[in-house]
Amino acid sequence: MASFASMIEKNKDLKGLNTLSLPARAENYAEFSSVSELLSLLCFAKKQNLEPKVLGGGSNVLLPTTVSGLVLKSTMQTIQVLRENQNGVWIKVEAGKNWHQWVLESQQYGHGLENLALIPGTVGASPIQNIGAYGVEVSDVLESVQGICLSSLQLMNLTNAECRFGYRDSVFKRELKNDFVVTSVVFRLAKNFQPNVDYGPLASWATDNESFSSQRLIDQVCEIRSSKLPDPAKIPNAGSFFKNPIVSEQLVAKLKAKYPAIPCYPQINGKVKLAAGWLIEQAGWKGKQLGNTSMHKLQALVLTTNGNADLNDVFSIRDAVVVDVCEKFGVELEPEPQVF
Ligand code: EPU
Repeated sequence: MASFASMIEKNKDLKGLNTLSLPARAENYAEFSSVSELLSLLCFAKKQNLEPKVLGGGSNVLLPTTVSGLVLKSTMQTIQVLRENQNGVWIKVEAGKNWHQWVLESQQYGHGLENLALIPGTVGASPIQNIGAYGVEVSDVLESVQGICLSSLQLMNLTNAECRFGYRDSVFKRELKNDFVVTSVVFRLAKNFQPNVDYGPLASWATDNESFSSQRLIDQVCEIRSSKLPDPAKIPNAGSFFKNPIVSEQLVAKLKAKYPAIPCYPQINGKVKLAAGWLIEQAGWKGKQLGNTSMHKLQALVLTTNGNADLNDVFSIRDAVVVDVCEKFGVELEPEPQVF
């Protein structure tokens, strides 16, 4: 046990490990480079009565100033081809791999991840909130997820169906919330490049470019993303701060009568998805500052900080935006990043 105690760093500074740059310190912190090392650390944490908390790329978490328990971070990054046939290739990627780096490297094996370029975070975090952009969600190309259940310390393999994916949702945010650490993800990539360019700005670009490579699509996605979304390395942010709300048809009918331009996306279950960015902009918050925080001037859905904000500052602007949007539209916005 002494060797595991020596792997644990006390009072670890986490400010550089969360993209909102919130000031935070972990009472206990350790990195693991293999599943067996992780299991040993989890056993050690159990014996010491330390709650394990797994940090990915820090791009979807809200950190309090002091994080109790044991913060764990994966440094595992191996990529392994499991099998292939003439249509597809199955590849296992370890959780600590940087997401964008994986998207770039995935092109040498197969296709399907192009639209998800430049999303901050790690491979291990990608299934938790079912990351998605420009018409593709990770669940479209994910075969299975491997990891450890924290309460039972059992190794688990969840198929795509068992992950119960939804819009920014999965079993890891529900039944297995705070009870699962992802160690690897298996992706099913297509051998043939069949681009998905249904998303508006990509569709108009694709019309102007009759044929294009997967790398060219990645470049275009990066260009669209960078034109609206701030780079967390320059302006601290956690991507979309709110989910796009899914509401009833009746409410949409009422809203449409009053706001004919409201963007609406009908869902297969009869409900309608609204654009949180539009609602926030109409409520007057686009580019608006509150203390050390702002709602971004190019994409109102993104909460940014000046690097000096703490969690309470973030809660203040979150609550102000939620109240104003609710008063104007009768729609309650739900934050996307989770309190750690
Ligand atoms: N809009 C506004 N004002 C704004 C922002 C958006 O009016 O300030 C309007 C747009 O004009 C458009 C609609 O809202 O009519 C939708 O905007 P956009 O296409 O930019 O996408 P989004 O719904 O705001 C979602 C994801 C993004 C993803 C984009 C593109 C969520 C919570 N966010 O944003 O994901 O990149 O679609 O697919 O679903 C992330 O999760 O961190 C993220 C950036």
